[in-house]
Amino acid sequence: MNRQEPLVLGIETSCDETGVGIVRGRKLLANVIASSMADHAKFGGVVPEIAARAHLESLESVIAQALRAAQVELREIDAIAVTAGPGLAGALMVGVAAAKALALALGVPLYGVNHLVAHVGAELLSSAEPLHTPTVALLVSGGHTSLLLVRDLVDDVVMLGETIDDAAGEAFDKVARVLELPYPGGPEIDRIAADGDPLAIRFPRGLVKPADLVKHRYDFSFSGLKTSVACWVERELAQGRTVNRADVAASFQEAVADVLLHKTIDACLTREVSHLILGGGVVANSQIRGRAEKLCAAHNITLRVPPLSLCTDNGAMIASLGAQLIIAGKDPSLLNFSAHSTLPVTSVMVGESR
Ligand code: KG4
Ligand code: ZN
Repeated sequence: MNRQEPLVLGIETSCDETGVGIVRGRKLLANVIASSMADHAKFGGVVPEIAARAHLESLESVIAQALRAAQVELREIDAIAVTAGPGLAGALMVGVAAAKALALALGVPLYGVNHLVAHVGAELLSSAEPLHTPTVALLVSGGHTSLLLVRDLVDDVVMLGETIDDAAGEAFDKVARVLELPYPGGPEIDRIAADGDPLAIRFPRGLVKPADLVKHRYDFSFSGLKTSVACWVERELAQGRTVNRADVAASFQEAVADVLLHKTIDACLTREVSHLILGGGVVANSQIRGRAEKLCAAHNITLRVPPLSLCTDNGAMIASLGAQLIIAGKDPSLLNFSAHSTLPVTSVMVGESR
């Protein structure tokens, strides 16, 4: 294998997207995704058993499609990378089992990698520039809300803070349900908020009081905000008033954007980090993006946001992190590793021999 430009196939099955990506070093060759989102819609959120079953059903065909798109044969693949965690246990197991089988059958090394760190690795595929370190990374999706400090992508990643209850995307999905909007709620809230006033209703911001900041300076909480929106709507309806959904959506979005970016910029400034990467599906949000751009410009912080297809869960980011581990000379994972649903970010890969 060419250790500087390894051909890596990455498998992602930590939530509801079955993703397979193929990269050659930093070059993206294929990024194929099958989502089971529609199967979860009637439940208003991801059902773990349904997600695991869907991965099982679609993985083979997604691998075949990725190979076709990349115009490579399976026997040319230098290494396999797979999400080892964090994520839904049953869903992760499907990807890990498939990756082990593939690696054994092909006689190639396998890298079990950290999903959150891989979100940062996605940036390498969208820009020719080297990853500037240190960088702060804000990852916001239906499954996570994490603020990372990346000093070295393959060796030194720490969690500055994360949500202590709901993920930001989850809050969007739950508030959408209150407003009788379909799942997934994020894009719907974003759409109707365009006609609303973000300052119409002052919803609470989680974990920003001085007392909270002592222990939770970089942590997030969205559960109280979600409840507050639900109570506000209920009260208005009980009093016979019509609810202006656009105002509610815009004000809710404002509260989320406010707290996410306030804490993120605070982390950049206090840690003297001049680079910020955003990742996760919630990054599609126009208010969050707009606010991030403005604040970064004001504070001289370089903002990097990969294209949305690389921001949401995908296999290419897993392959990208696998390629970086190979380029850094890391030994592959021992094949007896397991899926780890709460894998900490300090473990960039699993199953290391030493
Ligand atoms: O990264 P992602 O595709 O993966 C999972 O978490 O599985 O993120 C999906 C989340 C959902 O909660 C969805 O409502 C949210 O991202 N989302 C948005 C927007 N587009 C997707 N949230 C706010 N605004 C958006 N435009
Ligand atoms: Zn993710």
